[in-house]
Amino acid sequence: MKKIIVTIDGPAGSGKGRIAKYISKKWGLYHLDSGILYRRLAEVLNNKNIDLKNIDKVKKIIKKHKNLSFRKNKNLRSEKISNIASKIAVFQYVRKYINKLQNDFVIQNIDKKGFVIDGRDIGSVVFKNADLKLYIDVDVKIRAKRRYKQLIDIGEKSIYRQILKDIRLRDKLDKNRKNSPLVIPKGAYVIKNESSLLNTYNKINKLIEKIQYGK
Ligand code: DC
Repeated sequence: MKKIIVTIDGPAGSGKGRIAKYISKKWGLYHLDSGILYRRLAEVLNNKNIDLKNIDKVKKIIKKHKNLSFRKNKNLRSEKISNIASKIAVFQYVRKYINKLQNDFVIQNIDKKGFVIDGRDIGSVVFKNADLKLYIDVDVKIRAKRRYKQLIDIGEKSIYRQILKDIRLRDKLDKNRKNSPLVIPKGAYVIKNESSLLNTYNKINKLIEKIQYGK
């Protein structure tokens, strides 16, 4: 099996994480969730009560943390951390720092395994030369419903209308920021993930089969 790099970009709640997990298992690729790194940094800043407008303080924290854990936990998915993560993701120095962590990790491990990496700028900025680039698209109301259910499932109180508002705001921040906005990467396949996941998986598997076996 070739050690390929697959990138998955898409807006919040598009299901890209779940899709990445599936591809990782099915094709034996290492899954890197780049959003976790933004969330990890958000958690550090939140725990230290850092004012996000104080750029010098944020930079100081970044300098101190030569690495961030890729490990997931429930707290990283809370609305508070989600909102801080999307706020810090607009800063170029934050993006540079997190891109380097991802690059280093891939370079250190690509001899062992291929990668599937999901985020907002993976195919457009971080791994422009990936073997396969995917962009997952889902209507905002469907995403809000899914997110609402996710939050209820982890026991967080939530209101659908507020979630919809938050997701719209996050989309706006992701798509309109100056640095690495969320775009469909050049050469990416746009996959609508609105009907069945099986449908989505089948489409993606065909694309990977083509790369692996040339069929
Ligand atoms: O995918 P996610 O919801 O876990 O991402 C958390 C935040 O980090 C989100 O606001 C967008 C930002 N992010 C980003 O700007 N670029 C990435 N490659 C991944 C995430």
